[in-house]
Amino acid sequence: MHHKKKFEKGFGEHRILLIGASGMLGRAFVKELSERNTHFIPGLRPDFDLLKDRCFELIEKLRPQLILNCAAYTDVNGAEAREQLAFAVNAYAVRRLAELARRIGAFLVNFGTDYVFDGRSQAPYRVDAPIAPGNAYARSKALGERWLLRSGCEALQVRTSWLYAPWGKNFVRTIASCAMEGARLRVVNDQRGRPTSAEHLARTTLALIERNAQGIFHVCDGGECTWFELAQAVVRGLGLEGHVRVEPCTSAEWPSPARRPAYSVLDLSETEALLGPMPHWTTNLAHVLSRLEA
Ligand SMILES: NC(=O)c1ccc[n+]([C@@H]2O[C@H](COP(=O)([O-])OP(=O)(O)OC[C@H]3O[C@@H](n4cnc5c(N)ncnc54)[C@H](OP(=O)(O)O)[C@@H]3O)[C@@H](O)[C@H]2O)c1
Repeated sequence: MHHKKKFEKGFGEHRILLIGASGMLGRAFVKELSERNTHFIPGLRPDFDLLKDRCFELIEKLRPQLILNCAAYTDVNGAEAREQLAFAVNAYAVRRLAELARRIGAFLVNFGTDYVFDGRSQAPYRVDAPIAPGNAYARSKALGERWLLRSGCEALQVRTSWLYAPWGKNFVRTIASCAMEGARLRVVNDQRGRPTSAEHLARTTLALIERNAQGIFHVCDGGECTWFELAQAVVRGLGLEGHVRVEPCTSAEWPSPARRPAYSVLDLSETEALLGPMPHWTTNLAHVLSRLEA
């Protein structure tokens, strides 16, 4: 689906609001937009708290033409016990944002997760594959995307997976710091997915907006792997393979409150048809490993 070619000449004259600018993906957008000298309004708490009326009043006053919503309740295990909070941020606030976006004519970009799928497929999940979220976080994100797409606002829902960046809380940084401490690592080898560099995701999302993409798109790094394989690549990339042992284990050996899909590879056809092949995760990972923040 295509919208009114709002951004085909770039973002220059448009008012952009970046909600969740402090998060891992939010920071990638801050970097990406700043490098392009594109002005944006960083939406941060407490002013831009999606659970407060003030946030929506401010947006109504600011009248942005583009809203990038990088805010979410992202604690997958925590959501099992705090499902209401996850739904408030990931579903109800997204609906409210979408209704407001429709009213003020803003284009709304929201991010979704590979965890909306059941994980039983043997082939990458297409954008229109039936969803069957298996944990509280995924259910809240699934409802958010459904409401967004039904709201009638101009919207782009970008599903992604396994985000990592030189900053923020993510698997790559956790493995890197354990490896640097010389810890022995046991990592699950029975969940397959696509790691995704947050910077690559930010860049690709902006390119999709410029190409008038609307509806659901999947954006990940190319290729696929298990968490174990990703951990091995991190240790290898840091030159620590002689010092640290990485061993595979099963999800059953590593019990966690939230169930995660065994297979959550997102199909990238629509995105790649517009923008060309996504760079392989090993390429993006190498670029990130050289810049890991302490
Ligand atoms: N991380 C992954 O592996 C992954 C995978 C698939 C999809 N995603 C999706 O990608 C998007 C970005 O994730 P991320 O990893 O960058 O998240 P993150 O690092 O956990 O950042 C979350 C952001 O949301 C903000 N936030 C939380 N509650 C809020 C509220 N009530 N009002 C306003 N802001 C609030 C946080 O602000 P404070 O700094 O104030 O707390 C922070 O800026 C999310 O939609 C997530 O669901 C992530």
